[in-house]
Formats: sequence, structure tokens, C-alpha cells
Amino acid sequence: MYPDNRPIGVFDSGVGGISVLAELLRLMPNENYIYYGDSHNAPYGVRPCDEVKELTIATANKLLSMGCKCLVIACNTATSAAVRPLRAAHPDIPVIGIEPALKPAVLNKGNGYVLVLATAVTLAEDKFKRLMAQYDHQARIHTLACPGIVEFVEKGITEGPELTSYLTDLFKDYLDTPPDCVVLGCTHYPFVGECIKTIFGSNTQIFDGGEGTARETRHQLTINDICNDSTAQGSVQIFNSDADYIRIAEKLLKIRQGR
Ligand code: DGL
Repeated sequence: MYPDNRPIGVFDSGVGGISVLAELLRLMPNENYIYYGDSHNAPYGVRPCDEVKELTIATANKLLSMGCKCLVIACNTATSAAVRPLRAAHPDIPVIGIEPALKPAVLNKGNGYVLVLATAVTLAEDKFKRLMAQYDHQARIHTLACPGIVEFVEKGITEGPELTSYLTDLFKDYLDTPPDCVVLGCTHYPFVGECIKTIFGSNTQIFDGGEGTARETRHQLTINDICNDSTAQGSVQIFNSDADYIRIAEKLLKIRQGR
């Protein structure tokens, strides 16, 4: 191993992927990171898949031109749309994509009732359909597209009466018999995870894919022998296609790290 101090590129449609960056920092604080949010074009989850693919590839190319040694697509929607072409175009570097944490939710309780929350694009794409097919005989799985949550988080709103009433209405069909597990299948949703948990009640467990993605990233760095073995704290640089959102991303990172 040698000290490969090139940055890890982490990106999302906006500020949501900060929830994944926080997990990466927890696991590998000595690595250097560049985070890029495309808030100018968010939300991705309501756009045609081809458009999401184009935007995702453009951001990936930006990060590669900044010298990143690997890419973490911290966006379920962008992963569904573009992880395959990105891997095909860059076979020499690890490209890690997040996916909804359906497996841990299903394994958590035999024959449980699992509700997956994600964007319309994530739920419609083949990648998620294949994941569902792997687990739908082991649990009762429902899916719900959640327009609107991304907009709250992009504004930096993670709590409060307006958000609570929006979410309560969004989940109204699921509150009489709350699910055993809720999967947060969009990287913006962990920022409103506390609010979601309060609405469903304490018997519902919440799962998100951030920690698993961080572990997979460490695994890929290790097998490709591109870890930074320095013991010093690494750096974090945050960029956004709309500079106004950098302040919100920084605030969200602090919230996540203060947990
Ligand atoms: N954060 C993104 C995800 O994980 C998508 C949000 C959006 O619709 O832009 O799916």
C-alpha cells in the first residue's frame, strides 16, 4: 500500500449525497473528498431517465478531470440511470453506486412488511426491479414514490410543522398498519429520517444505504490498492452547480456528523 492521496469523488443531484459523505468520513476520515451537488438541476427523480443519465455522466467527468481516484454515486436515482455506462466507460477506476437498503430491511424480520421510499425514476428502473425480484418472496414489499421531500432537504429543512404535515399526508395510506421497516431509497431522505420515524412510530425500523455504500467504497479502494494510508485527517471540498447550495450542504454535513 502507498499513500494515494488523490480525492474520492462523491456526487448527487443536490445536497442529499452529503448523507453518504458523512458515512464515508466516519469510516475513512483520512481520505480526501470532493463532493459535487447538481442542485441547479435537482430534482433528478422526476426527469426522464436519459436526461438523468446525461447529467450524471457530465458530473462524473467533471470529478475525473479534478483527479479523483474513484467515484461514489451518492444518489440512488443517478445510480439507476448511469452506473452501468459509467463503469463501462471507466473500467480502470472503481465506480460505486448506492442502492436502496432492501436486503438488510428484509433480513431484519422474517416475512416482514417493508415499505421502500424512493424517487419515481429509481422505482421504475430495471436495477430496482432486479433487486425487488431477489427479495419479494421473503417479505411483503411495498414501494412509494415520494415527490417533494427532495425540495424540503434542498432548502435545508429537516424538521418542523410544514415538513411533518407534508410527510403525514404522503404516508397516510400506510399509517393504520405501519410497516415493520422503512427503506430510505434516496440519499436526501436520511435528513428527514427522524421525522419519518416519528410519523410511523417506534415499532418501525428505518434503513438507508449510506453505511453499506461507505463499506463497499473502502472494499474497492482496498482491492484496487488505492487507499490513502496516511493517518492525518483528510480534506473535504464541496462544490455545487449552484453556489448558493454549498452553505446548505455544509450545514447538513454538520447535522449528520453531530448525530
Ligand atoms: N438523492 C437522490 C437519490 O438518492 C435523488 C433526488 C432527486 O430526485 O434529485 O435518489
